[in-house]
Amino acid sequence: MEPATILAIETSCDETAAAVVIGGREIRSNIVASQIASHRRFGGVVPEVASRHHMENIVPVVAEALEVAGLSFYELDAVAVTYGPGLVGALLVGLAYAKSLAYALDKPLIGVHHLLGHIYAGFLQYPELPLPAVCLVVSGGHTNLVYLESHTRRRILGSTRDDAAGEAFDKVARVLGLPYPGGPELEKLAREGDPRAVSFPRAWLEEGSLDFSFSGLKSAVINYLHHAQQTGAEVNPADVAASFQAAVVEVLVTKTIQAARRFNACSILLAGGVAANGFLRREMAAAAREAALPFFCPEPRLCTDNAAMIACAAYYQYLRRDFAPLDLNAIPDLPL
Ligand code: KG4
Ligand code: ZN
Repeated sequence: MEPATILAIETSCDETAAAVVIGGREIRSNIVASQIASHRRFGGVVPEVASRHHMENIVPVVAEALEVAGLSFYELDAVAVTYGPGLVGALLVGLAYAKSLAYALDKPLIGVHHLLGHIYAGFLQYPELPLPAVCLVVSGGHTNLVYLESHTRRRILGSTRDDAAGEAFDKVARVLGLPYPGGPELEKLAREGDPRAVSFPRAWLEEGSLDFSFSGLKSAVINYLHHAQQTGAEVNPADVAASFQAAVVEVLVTKTIQAARRFNACSILLAGGVAANGFLRREMAAAAREAALPFFCPEPRLCTDNAAMIACAAYYQYLRRDFAPLDLNAIPDLPL
């Protein structure tokens, strides 16, 4: 395979990220400037604030990515950028920068789908990952079961009908009084709790459905806390966190294994920010082992938003000359 050197830029939400990856697997740099501190006091991402931070960060973050990689702009073979889905103002910052750079260097521009980036974090670490695979992509904005037949053919088998898994983690963390972003905080708290303490509902939906729903579970947690408050019953927040996490993970794992069996997948891939969750990783690994299916999950820093995963997805597009025009626009609801 051609060892193309790709600079990738990712600004779809609240991380300004740039990375240099060679040949889709050798990470020369992977810089992530997080805006968590700025959004924390609002309890969530404020789109306008995110755009402004991206504007301030994009130049130094790209400069650092090249410096750490020990390369100059002129050694790049292509410039890749996330063009959706995400916050439109945030996406536009990365996109304007990437287009200008590609134009100035006269190198191809590669537009990457953010969720495809999450999936390719798997190929970044495991280029030989056996296909067809069933991939569970769980992030703050999306929850999808994807059948990956090849690098150009894929199909969505199931999606969430309401909240994304990460969104449910964040909302429940908020009602438990945990700071933003709630997912990792909730996982920490859950370690001290009993996952069997409270029996929260699991939304299996219709027989055989590979879709998800987490809003009922979120309401059940809120109602449980309300009821306790009204009756003066004692609440152990760690037990609530552990029981909530167990309910989410049980549904995610069960449906992923069902999908892999039904579609005769050769492997299971777990991806997206929520895939950084240790409990989910362990439960999925155990279930895959029991089903005799090879299981892959990128290391946690490659699961949450970063640009190395975008560079890897871009590499496979580069190999088939899937380049974008210089008038590429941001598409906030870009379908997979
Ligand atoms: O993929 P990602 O970094 O950004 C999006 O594309 O949305 O995912 C962020 C989501 C957030 O909802 C965050 O709370 C969740 O992933 N998350 C976690 C953990 N780490 C990140 N959820 C549960 N446990 C974690 N350890
Ligand atoms: Zn993401």
